[in-house]
Amino acid sequence: MSVFPKDFLWGAATASYQVEGAHDADGKGLSNWDVYSHLPGTTYMGTNGDVAADHYHRFKEDVALMAELGMKSYRFSVSWPRLFPKGRGEVNEAGVKFYSDLIDELLKYGIEPMLTMYHWDLPQALQDEIGGWESREIIDAFEGYARLLYERYGDRVKLWATFNETIVFTGLGYLTGMHPPGVKDPKRAIQACHHVFIAHARAVETFRKMGVQGQIGFVNVLQPNDPITNSAEDVKACELAEACFTHWFYDPVLKGEYPAELLAMAQTALGVPVFAPGDAELMKNNICDFIGVNYYKREMIAANYDVDGFEMNTSGQKGSGKELGWKGLFKLVRNPNGRYTDWDWEIYPEGLTDAIMRINKRYGNVPIYITENGLGAKDPIVNGEVLDQPRIDYLREHIQATGEAIKLGADVRGYYPWSFIDLLSWLNGYQKQYGFVYIDQENGLARKKKLSFGWYQKVISSNGEEL
Ligand code: BG6
Repeated sequence: MSVFPKDFLWGAATASYQVEGAHDADGKGLSNWDVYSHLPGTTYMGTNGDVAADHYHRFKEDVALMAELGMKSYRFSVSWPRLFPKGRGEVNEAGVKFYSDLIDELLKYGIEPMLTMYHWDLPQALQDEIGGWESREIIDAFEGYARLLYERYGDRVKLWATFNETIVFTGLGYLTGMHPPGVKDPKRAIQACHHVFIAHARAVETFRKMGVQGQIGFVNVLQPNDPITNSAEDVKACELAEACFTHWFYDPVLKGEYPAELLAMAQTALGVPVFAPGDAELMKNNICDFIGVNYYKREMIAANYDVDGFEMNTSGQKGSGKELGWKGLFKLVRNPNGRYTDWDWEIYPEGLTDAIMRINKRYGNVPIYITENGLGAKDPIVNGEVLDQPRIDYLREHIQATGEAIKLGADVRGYYPWSFIDLLSWLNGYQKQYGFVYIDQENGLARKKKLSFGWYQKVISSNGEEL
């Protein structure tokens, strides 16, 4: 008998900027990524999402493929500037209609929509006019945007997530400078991140006040951090990494407060986050209904006396990544016995079980959706067929690891591989593929099912028994 509950949501995921294209169609405003990706030297070989998979124009064809795959649920994100070209104020009805039609199309096939409100594409106007996430004004703007989503889609969407991976868009956006707005300042990063937590809490509060019939959550990176040795220094460095990477991002939405020790450290050293009156209560009173977790890899951590920098492998040349870290705190090091992808991400399925159980231990039996998991690879094409066997192997092992967590008592309710279709990887271009469906860039973006498509079809129809 399957270890997965009978109503388990087998899905797949995408995000607006990475898949839609149509970046200036039908009244859409520009997003921060529309602007940033056109600046020289920001992305892999200058790739951008102007066209992407052109899902905006081809969504019916894509949803038909989702239905053929047997998907029970589809996780997508809404582009804020498609609805509010300036981030607030006037609504672009054509944009509202696009998602409304997409939702109807999904429901036509019995596919449950899971809507992410913010997967990193901020209206550029909010960056220019108020300074984006650094301004408290963005909290009202986000609430207004959330309200519109509830009003227009709340009758049909039952699963909502406010933010995707705050650690990434605030970390890379304000600390390492690799995402827009390209800032490198820990103080600004921590305060911007605080505004995200407050915007999230306000959106949850409004959701409940408006009586939307559904569940609302938050999506975080799930990354277990393990010490590279048992030395006291490495173990201590690892505890700090776990607090920074995990507790800082999960505690505010699942406990309604920051981890006390780390908060004191940040406020003493940098004077942030600064709380406005009412922030603490707002966080406390608006705990998530569920948590979405995106799992790709674990990190091995060591005490750090030398490395100060953050240069990732964005080329897909195995071994080209450098050690990353903050001197005096901790660094991320390679596991000499590990299996790695071409982008130097460790393949470690056991880490998914471990990390889920760590969440379970710290926050109780909170409902969990695995909102992303997948293998980024340059898929081999043999005689015109995309033979992505490594992806099948990766997903099989991670589905098994999910099953282990369920056996141990975790309340995992759904699994959304990243990604349904090949799409733009923010800094890695189109050569880092994740999809069940290949996009032929040379042939008018024609869709083609990969080997993994047929495999996942069987996984779904057997409720995870046939792997
Ligand atoms: C997550 C994001 O960080 O990982 C996705 O939510 C992203 O948007 C995915 O594409 C894979 O990362 P990358 O860098 O390989 O595209």
